[in-house]
Amino acid sequence: GITRRYKFDIKLVRMTRLCHTKGVITVNGKFPGPLVTVREGDNLLVEVVNHVQNNISIHWHGIRQLRSGWADGPAYITQCPIRTGQRYMYNFTVSGQRGTLFWHAHISWIRATVHGPLIILPKPNVPYPFGNPYKEVPIIFGEWWNVDPEAVISQALQTGAGPNVSDAYTINGLPGPLYNCSAKDTFKLKVKPAKTYLLRLINAAVDDELFFSIANHTITVVEVDAVYVKPFDTDTLLITPGQTTNVLLKTKPYFPKANFFMYARPYATGQGTFDNSTVAGILEYELSNFSPFNSTSTKNLPFFKPALPPFNDTSFASNFSRKIRSLASAQFPAKVPQKVERRFFFTVGLGTNPCPRNQTCQGPNNRTKFSASINNVSFVLPTTAILQAYFFGQSNGVYTTDFPNNPITPFNYTGNPPNNTMVSNGTKAVVLPYNTSVELVMQDTSILGAESHPLHLHGFNFFVVGQGFGNYDPNKDPAKFNLVDPIERNTVGVPSGGWVAIRFLADNPGVWFMHCHLEVHTSWGLKMVWIVLEGKLPNQKLPPPPSDLPTC
Ligand code: C2O
Repeated sequence: GITRRYKFDIKLVRMTRLCHTKGVITVNGKFPGPLVTVREGDNLLVEVVNHVQNNISIHWHGIRQLRSGWADGPAYITQCPIRTGQRYMYNFTVSGQRGTLFWHAHISWIRATVHGPLIILPKPNVPYPFGNPYKEVPIIFGEWWNVDPEAVISQALQTGAGPNVSDAYTINGLPGPLYNCSAKDTFKLKVKPAKTYLLRLINAAVDDELFFSIANHTITVVEVDAVYVKPFDTDTLLITPGQTTNVLLKTKPYFPKANFFMYARPYATGQGTFDNSTVAGILEYELSNFSPFNSTSTKNLPFFKPALPPFNDTSFASNFSRKIRSLASAQFPAKVPQKVERRFFFTVGLGTNPCPRNQTCQGPNNRTKFSASINNVSFVLPTTAILQAYFFGQSNGVYTTDFPNNPITPFNYTGNPPNNTMVSNGTKAVVLPYNTSVELVMQDTSILGAESHPLHLHGFNFFVVGQGFGNYDPNKDPAKFNLVDPIERNTVGVPSGGWVAIRFLADNPGVWFMHCHLEVHTSWGLKMVWIVLEGKLPNQKLPPPPSDLPTC
């Protein structure tokens, strides 16, 4: 591999969408931010310089960071934030992975505008298993607030209520013609007939899972989370925040005399409010010089619209995720851990915290605040980075290692709301010896209503070996696990009112964040950390931190 260098200047720029102009925190003045392209095996050096008042850190979402956890990026987990006027060089090698990922800020809600595609090309002369597309197009979904997203989350945390929803969804930063005052800000995908396009879809929205469809065109899913899958056709797909999906789009073999909308709109199951609006982009066929139509005849072409499932269509969501299987070929095997050394059962969901005495709280259950938790623990970020504290043996006062293997009180998770909705705060970690094979069942609880949670694990890919609705049954369900070709990924939806089982091998020493990628749930505490110990051999150790690692 070679070394690739990028410079990220974090700066505030004025930007207008929906006729509202505001200051936006960006990388190099762009929303979405710049495309980062590397090749498998390359070393990536990104110098991040912070020119804004807010603290910053950048995460390379889905990058395994084998023995390079100092470059992972979540603030107060692997590093202290980069403060105003400071810089930090992210330095890591991309190995054993190829496909579409993304990078984003990993502190508070700054990722709302600080994110961009991260594309890992295969090694030279290694073809894609799905053939060579005519063209590749990154399509990144986002959200736009007319106000500062930082104000939205800080107000929500102070009042204990849900945050104000965004004003629009965006495709490559553009809300599209279905929003007021936005027709000129529409993403257009111009295509030629009879070609195959590779669309690299990325959901960088803050709080919403999205359905996506292109009118009158079937798409073929070929990769998720930078892992090749057995190709399958679909009209609509579901993509959660934190997930990436590569699809092939075969254009019509003729000039179709029509324009086609592509739509993205939320899949939502929770009780909270959400922005039930649609971002539209346009698929437009370009006339060639030899086309029988002249350019004036394209002006009044009809527009076709895609049909998306209803916003709460959980059966679509579950059927779609079941279709995704690893390629599991000789060249790209699925290395599913066949035996398990440590088993964990985590409940994930919303609960309530007692309202602090000096605050007014508008959350549920009278004077309590919304919180979210894993096994009744609502995770609190420390004021220094856990990885540093761990590495230098200074855990005291920073974190504890008593994260529970199971929820405190077992109950009927998906039935009538139980009464143990209270959670406690803590900065608790699970410690795993090097190379432990782990099985983790995550169970949605319907304490405040069933809700789908896209759980993201840093530092690893995991295999999704099983999923189901209702309460997980440890006696019956494991018999149905797929240990042959389950999908390998970094973000999985815990089904609304159901459970998901994953397996991974803890072969990466360091401190690894796991959290719901609906940012509001992370803010409420739906997060925890795994500490993976070093092995005995030199190549099983975590090197010391780089000298420019920010301090708290
Ligand atoms: Cu994409 Cu911890 O995040």
